[in-house]
Amino acid sequence: MRPKFGIIGCGNISRFHFNGLEKAGADIVYISDIHEPAAKPYVDKYKAKYSPDYKDVIADPEVTVVSVLTSAKYHKEICLAALRAGKDVICEKTMANDGAESIEIAQAAKTSGRLFYTSYMKRFFPAVQKAKELLPQLGRLFSAQARAYQNWGDSLYELDNGDGQQWILDAYGGAVIKCAGSHMIDMTLHLLGRPDSLYAHIDYISNSRVDRKANALFEYANGMVAHYETAVHPLTRVGYERNSWDEKLEINGVNGRLEIYTILWDQPENNGALLVHYDNATESSTEYRYPSLDPFEAEMAYFHTCLTDRKQGQPDVIDGMNVDLVIEAMGISAAQRKAHIFAWPVNL
Ligand SMILES: NC(=O)c1ccc[n+]([C@@H]2O[C@H](COP(=O)([O-])OP(=O)(O)OC[C@H]3O[C@@H](n4cnc5c(N)ncnc54)[C@H](O)[C@@H]3O)[C@@H](O)[C@H]2O)c1
Repeated sequence: MRPKFGIIGCGNISRFHFNGLEKAGADIVYISDIHEPAAKPYVDKYKAKYSPDYKDVIADPEVTVVSVLTSAKYHKEICLAALRAGKDVICEKTMANDGAESIEIAQAAKTSGRLFYTSYMKRFFPAVQKAKELLPQLGRLFSAQARAYQNWGDSLYELDNGDGQQWILDAYGGAVIKCAGSHMIDMTLHLLGRPDSLYAHIDYISNSRVDRKANALFEYANGMVAHYETAVHPLTRVGYERNSWDEKLEINGVNGRLEIYTILWDQPENNGALLVHYDNATESSTEYRYPSLDPFEAEMAYFHTCLTDRKQGQPDVIDGMNVDLVIEAMGISAAQRKAHIFAWPVNL
């Protein structure tokens, strides 16, 4: 059966969902935003029903899948209501405000038997998919380095107080960790799995909960350690393309190394993401270069196919929960200045 989409939240990120769904040939039948002007262009374009109240979208029997694109503080309420009403769900990242909310959503999704996707679209870069395929060739893994630097100018360093930064917490529930940082946590977990423990340091703007830099060691049972770093920064000519987008995951195994460089995905004039595979046996490096693409288009096409075929696929609700639990653990570890040992939820 063809999925029928209800879209809740028509802000910044929604245009990539609309575009991806349109290119996938999806049926968008109902749209909600509390601010009608935000929804109107899409309502007109797709000749969809409109309501400022998301509950109307969820109550409509025509809607089979709900895309939750509001800020994270509303995700739990909307996701749970959608699941209760028997709808499938696509939820933007981060899935929820904190670990407890994420576990609640994951349990509800599992109990409901509905399909649930968390939108970590960077997994859909061909370079990342190729890295996943090549990973077993690295043999025993011993080290990884993950970096997500996001250029926000020098505002978060110059303006060293919490005033005026509340919007970041309102919009995303946090600053750099929830924004650029969460993607690289997802990519690290996607390729390396859940860590057993972590140790983190977080630099906040003085007297605030606005995180502008975070470092962590993700520790794995076999001695493998992933070094993770995310930061807002003012450096204009750093990164793979020297355009300030500085995002990389390097994984080292006894047989070789993978380096993934991801790019400014919303600017297709840039190169595609790059993968470099160094093979120690032949002492040779292979570069995998791909055409530039908007990973949301690949992600929405995939979700649309999964929904049509009634197939779960990933990233799913557990992937969303895992990232939220890592983010929460980083906060706990940094506050306590000691390692956090994970007790991953049983059966999830
Ligand atoms: N994947 C990415 O790279 C990426 C980038 C940016 C944002 N995001 C995520 O996307 C989500 C939305 O972020 P954004 O930047 O688009 O935020 P935004 O503030 O621009 O948009 C959110 C929209 O939701 C609407 N809204 C709020 N409450 C609502 C409700 N109860 N019912 C209906 N509409 C409601 C708001 O009016 C607004 O138009 C967040 O979870 C964020 O973390 C992901």
